[in-house]
Amino acid sequence: MQKNKIKHMLNFKDYSSEEIRKIIEKAIEIKRNPERYSEILKNKTLIMLFQKTSTRTRLSFEAAMTQLGGHAIFLDWRTTQFRIAEFIDEIRAVMRFGDILMFRALKHELLEEAVKFASIPIINGLCNKYHPCQALGDMLTMVEELGGNVDSMKGRKLVYLGIANNVSNSLVEVCTKLGMRITLCTPEKDKDAYDADLEARARATGLYEETTDLNCLSDADFVYTDTWINMEFFDEKGNVVPEFREEFERRKRLLMPYQLNLELLKRYGSKAKIMHDMPMHAGYEISRDAIESENSIIFKQAENRLHIQKSIILFLLGKI
Ligand code: CP
Repeated sequence: MQKNKIKHMLNFKDYSSEEIRKIIEKAIEIKRNPERYSEILKNKTLIMLFQKTSTRTRLSFEAAMTQLGGHAIFLDWRTTQFRIAEFIDEIRAVMRFGDILMFRALKHELLEEAVKFASIPIINGLCNKYHPCQALGDMLTMVEELGGNVDSMKGRKLVYLGIANNVSNSLVEVCTKLGMRITLCTPEKDKDAYDADLEARARATGLYEETTDLNCLSDADFVYTDTWINMEFFDEKGNVVPEFREEFERRKRLLMPYQLNLELLKRYGSKAKIMHDMPMHAGYEISRDAIESENSIIFKQAENRLHIQKSIILFLLGKI
């Protein structure tokens, strides 16, 4: 059963502002001086269990372990015995082989179930409700854009466009804990990701706002979007699958006014830096001109996944 002393990262509800600050500041330090950390995780193993596909999360965690002198093992749920055995048995066995576990789960409840039996720290590598590692990496990127001081985030403003979801949940947590304003400019919330407690905590800070009024862009320092297109909407040739046609068209009608593009930013006088966690669907939630804009920091976000993962792993292993 759960060992109370083990610290996990499923979301940030049990994280203080100081802990979040510490992880970001250490990531900055490691990024500047990678050689100092090249053997810190010698003989340590990270197990990465994926129930869903990934590019950045897998690459960043695996590269992070290599660069810290340790080792990462990739487990694709679909090629393991998780498919045929009880989760609570397989997960306990898995944890016997490593020092820390990163788990990308379809449902948050499965992460909570894993924590009940945890013998090692567990990192949420994205679930239906949260994406904490992404949000920390994004905060690192924003801090760097403002000169590298975490305090410089205080009073700054992030506008999130599109559907409120797991990514926006974690951004809301991190921003409000570091004194940054965050506005969700969204006509819809993903029901599966909705967390009333998280929203109430954010509102209590006075830093959180919801609106459908795009005028909120005018004083934004950063503007962020995430996909509202599901991969299952398309077949292999890129055509919309008939059974998803209605939902695809509904989303397009509802969300195209919130597409992150340069014309939109110009219309509202916004000089905001452009962010996206990727994968992107150019022409839907974001335009190609926004991706390629000199204000885009999207690929810096992607790279910063590597630097923040190092800090997250070291934090959870008690090395910082
Ligand atoms: N942003 C993100 O988590 O990317 P992947 O799904 O490719 O890991």
